[in-house]
Amino acid sequence: MKSFILISLPALALLAACASSDMPEASEGERLFADNCTACHDYRGTGSAQLIGGQAAPDLTRISARNGGTFPTAQVLSQIDGYGRGKVSAEVMPEFGVLLQGDLVPIEIDGTLTPTPRPLAALLAYLESIQVP
Ligand code: HEC
Repeated sequence: MKSFILISLPALALLAACASSDMPEASEGERLFADNCTACHDYRGTGSAQLIGGQAAPDLTRISARNGGTFPTAQVLSQIDGYGRGKVSAEVMPEFGVLLQGDLVPIEIDGTLTPTPRPLAALLAYLESIQVP
């Protein structure tokens, strides 16, 4: 009986933690997109002809189409998450510190559930929702 309690209490705590961190909806990401991304990527994410640091912001509704029909979650996440580390320099697409804050939610990346800041997860959900064939 004693060992049963020892095992079940942490399990219950884990269950409660999971229940409270429900996954963000695309609409939550849409608001973040409107606040942080539309200046360059246009309000529908369709990109802009205007050059920023010599580069045009790409059409974000066709990320899957450019990737053989699959939404490349890991690639998109690292693009939004760490510009300095990626191929896009921080001057071209700024880093969004505020997007890296908040609760962590599990996002499946290459088959592994990865704790991801909620604002980033919301943006991913939004971007995935606007993909066109
Ligand atoms: C200052 C302008 C600017 C802002 C603001 C900006 N971006 Fe970008 N973004 C770019 C440019 C320019 C590129 C293209 C870089 C390249 O092709 O190497 C890009 C590329 C991307 C890509 C890669 C697309 C692909 O096909 O691989 C994603 C995803 C992306 N941005 C998402 C976002 C999100 C989400 C936000 C808001 C949080 C945002 N961007 C804000 C300029 C911007």
